Amino acid sequence: MSLFRLDASLFPATSASRELADLVEAEWLAAHPDSTVLRRDLAAEPVSATAWAAAVTAKGTPEAERSDEQRAAVAQAAAIADELIAADALLFAVPLYNYGVSQHFKTWFDLAYTDPRIDPQGTALRGKPATLVTVLGGNYAPGSPREDWDHSTPWLRRVLEDVWGLDLRVVQRPFTLVGVNPALDAFRDAADELRVAAEHDARRSGQEIADLHRARVA
Ligand SMILES: Cc1cc2nc3c(=O)[nH]c(=O)nc-3n(C[C@H](O)[C@H](O)[C@H](O)COP(=O)(O)O)c2cc1C
Repeated sequence: MSLFRLDASLFPATSASRELADLVEAEWLAAHPDSTVLRRDLAAEPVSATAWAAAVTAKGTPEAERSDEQRAAVAQAAAIADELIAADALLFAVPLYNYGVSQHFKTWFDLAYTDPRIDPQGTALRGKPATLVTVLGGNYAPGSPREDWDHSTPWLRRVLEDVWGLDLRVVQRPFTLVGVNPALDAFRDAADELRVAAEHDARRSGQEIADLHRARVA
């Protein structure tokens, strides 16, 4: 039994997304003590920015004519797909960067998505239990001044839930920069409440993906 865990924080030592993902992982392991955890840290080992183009162009290139880079990219995509398909549950911890999706996550996703088992026609991941943990320095909730500036969470949800078909829970913690950026000091109480709520959601989602897996194999 195994949990696949991906982290995309650039600052692991102080990472709020890692803290929340640790809570999810702890609940999974409490329910499935024999499980292994396969970790992929995209900040430590990013996917090359040129791998996706190499894998895409390889598709139209006869095997014998492919460059070394194209061959390596196709193999790497297959290795990522193997990891995802083999796992019993998936955990993604992805911060908001520059109002959009983490470059490291996008590069990883794009390459994975070239593999025929999980491409637009692929069905290998459908129904797999998964949690997305995402953290935002600010707060983009409805009614806030920048309510539609988070272009990461909707995309992540779209590709993980609708495209890959994962049975997805989303845990979100906004306002992680409160206490770091003095301009946000007025929001300390709200940020504390949001942190506590996110921690609760993280624990619950860990229990839920553990239960879902149990139900899938029963
Ligand atoms: C380079 C960089 C860009 C960021 N861009 C945004 C942003 O556009 N909007 C936002 O709300 N927070 C932004 N943040 C804040 C992060 O989302 C926040 O610090 C988050 O907690 C980082 O995840 P981590 O704690 O897991 O490392 C940015 C942080 C960094 C380092």
